[in-house]
Amino acid sequence: MRIYTYFALFCVSLILASCSDNEDNNISSPTEEVVPGTNHHILIAYFSEPLPDGVDANTSASRVIVNGDLYGSVEYMATVIGEATGADMVRIQTATPYPGNFDDLASQADNERQNNIHPALATDIENFDDYDVIFVGYPIWWYQMPMAMYSFFDEYDFAGKTIIPFSSHGGSGWSRTVDDIAGMEPNATMVNGYSISRSSVAGSEEGILQWLERIGMLEQQN
Ligand SMILES: Cc1cc2nc3c(=O)[nH]c(=O)nc-3n(C[C@H](O)[C@H](O)[C@H](O)COP(=O)(O)O)c2cc1C
Repeated sequence: MRIYTYFALFCVSLILASCSDNEDNNISSPTEEVVPGTNHHILIAYFSEPLPDGVDANTSASRVIVNGDLYGSVEYMATVIGEATGADMVRIQTATPYPGNFDDLASQADNERQNNIHPALATDIENFDDYDVIFVGYPIWWYQMPMAMYSFFDEYDFAGKTIIPFSSHGGSGWSRTVDDIAGMEPNATMVNGYSISRSSVAGSEEGILQWLERIGMLEQQN
């Protein structure tokens, strides 16, 4: 039953968010158009949870196949950003892996959200202080960031750093996640991010490169 409820909500969000492949819907916090400064040390930290092969393709979980390689949506976006900028990359993973089927994953994610559970992370970025610009990538889960992202923002101090969000969704757009990040990291600079529907991810490389150019990140090398 849960999955049908989810789909009903999901269809409504698709209608409401038909123009959500863009960079600024649902954002009220100030964001910079261009990354300030030069000579950056750039990190891409992303969360992505593609389900394994064999799941029902009609679920909201995503898998993207580009040139025969299988990616999660956010993972693919991170890969494009990494190749274009030369940034270091790290995947944000929980200490206890999420279930590999959609129903259980959706149910666990919903439980974490409703009970404000910040799951322990397996990811440890020892040299986090070395970076001044951090691309932060995540899917939308239940109209917000996965709770592992809240754990991530608990764990690392972004004061004085620049955060560039990027995200993939099934119709909900940013869902105010940029405001959430800005609220948690008031002493960081937020730069215009890139949000894209999972149905557009496979063909998103050019759009991502254009966005990187607009924010001054295309020519940057670590
Ligand atoms: C547990 C779960 C909850 C989701 N909730 C939403 C949602 O509320 N709104 C939405 O637009 N998409 C939702 N989606 C769809 C994902 O945001 C979308 O499939 C995204 O591209 C997944 O990225 P990934 O493959 O990198 O994990 C949800 C997906 C999952 C697995």
